[in-house]
Amino acid sequence: MGDVYPVDPAFGAAIGSDAYARMCADAAADPESFWRDAAKRLDWYRAPTQIKDVSYDLKDFHIRWFADGELNASVNCLDRHLASRGDQVALIFEPDSPDAPSQRITYRELHARTCKLANALRNLGVQKGDRVTIYLPMIPDAAVAMLACARIGAVHSVVFGGFAPQSIADRVQDCGTKLIITADDGLRGGKKIPLKANVDEALKLPGTNTVETVLVVRHTGGAVDMQMPRDRWFDAVVDGQPDTCEPERMNAEDPLFILYTSGSTGKPKGVLHTTGGYLLWAAYTHELVFDLRPGDVYWCTADVGWVTGHSYIVYGPLANGATEVMFEGVPNYPNVSRFWEVIDKHQVTIFYTAPTAIRALMREGDAPVKRTSRASLRLLGSVGEPINPEAWRWYYETVGDSRCPVVDTWWQTETGGILISPLPGAIDLKPGSATKPLPGVIPALVDANGGILDGATEGNLVLLDSWPGQMRSVYGDHQRFIDTYFKTYPGMYFTGDGCRRDEDGYYWITGRVDDVINVSGHRIGTAEVESALVSHPRVAEAAVVGFPHDIKGQGIYAYVTLLAGETESEELRKELVAWVRKEIGPIASPDHLQWAPGLPKTRSGKIMRRILRKIAEDAPDQLGDTSTLADPSVVDSLVRNRKGG
Ligand code: PRX
Repeated sequence: MGDVYPVDPAFGAAIGSDAYARMCADAAADPESFWRDAAKRLDWYRAPTQIKDVSYDLKDFHIRWFADGELNASVNCLDRHLASRGDQVALIFEPDSPDAPSQRITYRELHARTCKLANALRNLGVQKGDRVTIYLPMIPDAAVAMLACARIGAVHSVVFGGFAPQSIADRVQDCGTKLIITADDGLRGGKKIPLKANVDEALKLPGTNTVETVLVVRHTGGAVDMQMPRDRWFDAVVDGQPDTCEPERMNAEDPLFILYTSGSTGKPKGVLHTTGGYLLWAAYTHELVFDLRPGDVYWCTADVGWVTGHSYIVYGPLANGATEVMFEGVPNYPNVSRFWEVIDKHQVTIFYTAPTAIRALMREGDAPVKRTSRASLRLLGSVGEPINPEAWRWYYETVGDSRCPVVDTWWQTETGGILISPLPGAIDLKPGSATKPLPGVIPALVDANGGILDGATEGNLVLLDSWPGQMRSVYGDHQRFIDTYFKTYPGMYFTGDGCRRDEDGYYWITGRVDDVINVSGHRIGTAEVESALVSHPRVAEAAVVGFPHDIKGQGIYAYVTLLAGETESEELRKELVAWVRKEIGPIASPDHLQWAPGLPKTRSGKIMRRILRKIAEDAPDQLGDTSTLADPSVVDSLVRNRKGG
């Protein structure tokens, strides 16, 4: 593997390669004492004596960490910092428009705001275990809302602001939400997103009548339709509340949050994370991977609607007492230098973003980067999808001026935090590789039958043992959790990712091997888009696959068969794309929609996606064997009319 960027000696003092090797050995030799020690980084009401209690054996399946420990996540993120760094800035809020003033919120202020909202939620009848849906823009109140839930033991379910009413309704219904926190509008790239109006639409849909209250943050001042007594202004219920609030003592295994994510089948599932193990994992990995030091200004550009925002904007950095930027906007507004300008403005030292943003900005050339200083930067991170070596090098050389290590962090909503990533002082970098597992993480590559593969090889990525941040269940459907992750390869957690390992033991994630498409780092289930399409009155059948996309990593390619008697037209094509946007949200809009008079099916009626993928990839010469199809001639017409054809 020719291209190696050696460990930066400036980082070696933090965790060097010897310390990394020792930590891996310690975690493997005696996980109990390794994790007992690691757990001391959190403040516990009752320190755990039971550390790891895990069985992946389907006959006695359970995952428990720190099971007799008691703590509160908001206390760990706020209260315990008050004495030592109450006046340190926790959040630097950078609004969508650079002309609007940024805000600096100290730990003391964040604590007070959280307590006020927590008190207000209690007054509104929210109790430990109740579910609260958060549908907010990237504003400090989003972090406040999550922490306020954590304070009173309510389980938050954050729904990304780009999701449409139907998607909100599905998520509200699935977890039986009692209260929703939203805002009048979101603001991204100068455009308003009608959040409250979307909630209003969602709450007209069936199955959402568990919602008793909607709290509305006044953000843009836009007009909203307040429906009394259901809807309440956020500031009105929070004003006058005491700025302290008795936290709920939570068991380590009590739920902290639900976050919906797409799988290969059915509706998105509610990934359930619990309090102790998750918080420990977010904090431990945040410090280790980003080499967090006093004085750092850390910036993760993710949205709190995704797991990256949960672990690396809210829980990890705040548990670690970091100072961080929270950004409401987008990388190309008002111009394509915005990221780099914000770095200079707030003297950001650690910057964590997604390959899709890097590729989009790379396309704009070096000039928008080079006209900024970026001298404050010392570490760069990447997350969400494989980063192609070309984008990695541009990030390293142009953005980081060849000074800043790049940590390519592999993980999933399900894993709670980073599992495979370079530690900047310990592991030489290779562009495009997430490199090696963190201490305590045991990945393996398996063949189709679950046989473990040794040495330099390629296979499906599994984890052989648990780590504290692992998800504990699918909300309301524990069997689905077991079936999805532990049945494919008994005794192992299956990630759904394919992976290569090189002769140096480096891991190179190749992408999903199931029917999940990774669009700009967002997971979309093909089944979700298909079911949105077939819910249109003129559609008979649909099949959706991913295809390589220069900026997004993968794009969405939909094949649609209309009902008999319906006519294909450009107008209908546009209508169907808009339909998916409306049903799921803009992130699920098909990039290409091809009419399919027929779909390639086996004689038993199963759609052969392998063929559809090759056509979408514009590789009609690689279709493989089509002789098992019920009607091989459908393929010719699909090939002729393909996007690249
Ligand atoms: O396919 C992998 C890809 O994103 C999937 C997880 O998506 P999600 O649960 O939405 O979480 C995204 C943020 C962690 C994984 O199964 N993925 C994530 N990070 C990387 C990656 N693929 C390659 N390299 C990465 N660094």
